Amino acid sequence: SRHFAAEERQRSPQLDAQPTSAPGSGYNVAVLGSGGGIGQPLSLLLKLCPRVRDLRLYDVANTAGVAADLSHIATAARVSAHTGGDELPDALYGADLVVIPAGVPRKPGMTRDDLFNINAGIVRTLCEGVARYCPHAWVAIISNPVNSTVPIAAEVFKRAGTFNPAKLFGVTMLDVVRANTFVGEALGVDPATVNVPVIGGHAGVTILPVLSAGTPKLSVPEGQARALMARIQDAGTEVVKAKAGAGSATLSMAYAASRFVEACLRAMAGEVGVVECAFVASSLVTDLPFFASQLRLGPGGIAEFLPLPRLNAMEQGNFESMKAELRSSIQKGVDFMNT
Ligand code: NAD
Ligand code: LMR
Repeated sequence: SRHFAAEERQRSPQLDAQPTSAPGSGYNVAVLGSGGGIGQPLSLLLKLCPRVRDLRLYDVANTAGVAADLSHIATAARVSAHTGGDELPDALYGADLVVIPAGVPRKPGMTRDDLFNINAGIVRTLCEGVARYCPHAWVAIISNPVNSTVPIAAEVFKRAGTFNPAKLFGVTMLDVVRANTFVGEALGVDPATVNVPVIGGHAGVTILPVLSAGTPKLSVPEGQARALMARIQDAGTEVVKAKAGAGSATLSMAYAASRFVEACLRAMAGEVGVVECAFVASSLVTDLPFFASQLRLGPGGIAEFLPLPRLNAMEQGNFESMKAELRSSIQKGVDFMNT
């Protein structure tokens, strides 16, 4: 793999003139892995988003057809197709936001960590491209295992001298979407009116829905709260089992990712009060180097880390007992780049 030195970047007049879109004019969004199970419906949802000006579809295969298809939809976003490494620069140059669903999904019996060997290298290569061709872009990583791929991305950017921790996000929005849906069902209310913060990471027990801090208030016996928490933590596996070898969540993930990307673009455009959960480099809220928590987004990325919600005794216990796993998944990503 290639590593791009900061000096190399600084020498490049093309990169010094790196454009970022002016607020209000629409944004350039690149989807890396756009031909896949998540990539296609995510690209569809982004084609419908009025804040997207240029939608760049990148994959190693399957881009031309998806782009031709989407380009017939009567919305303003322009769609372009970019296939294979030689066309990555064009997909990235001038991108304001890059969303990465590239990589292999789970099959029944696998953990997200079982995807590490393949997806770590994919994320590294794509992020090397980001560092080189759109170093100022916001980057939203979907590829699993998120607890490790986000640290890999951070290491790539550090080596390139482009790391801006305010603009690198692991997408954990699907955990929030699931928590809102299941709590909405439990409360008998429209899930669109529910907001449950989910903190920690994005795998098994590292997914920590803070049910006690959700709105509207959920008052259920501890056993029911534990069951809800377990369902949210295992929801990815529920889909993997139901798809029986055909992959993992794609449609709900595309919905969650498009919600997250739209929140980023609203913040970029100067909308105030945009608060979302994401897995980010963070030393302010816990002693872990990366952590998912509620973030206030602004035009430059993360504007504020909201304090962790108050955890009840059960949530605090789960938090303490998952820290070692999360720390070691983070370290695995860092080590991948340093060995
Ligand atoms: P998929 O196999 O359907 O699609 C993956 C796409 O990535 C394919 O089109 C493939 O060609 C492409 N790809 C592979 N290598 C590439 C490379 N080097 N450059 C560009 N594109 C490349 O898989 P999927 O169901 O879309 O899932 C993608 C990833 O998202 C998986 O790792 C999965 O575990 C993860 N995921 C994460 C979440 C989350 O909440 N963060 C949710 C669901 C899935
Ligand atoms: C999910 O939560 O659905 C994703 O992380 C995919 C998976 O492997 O479960």
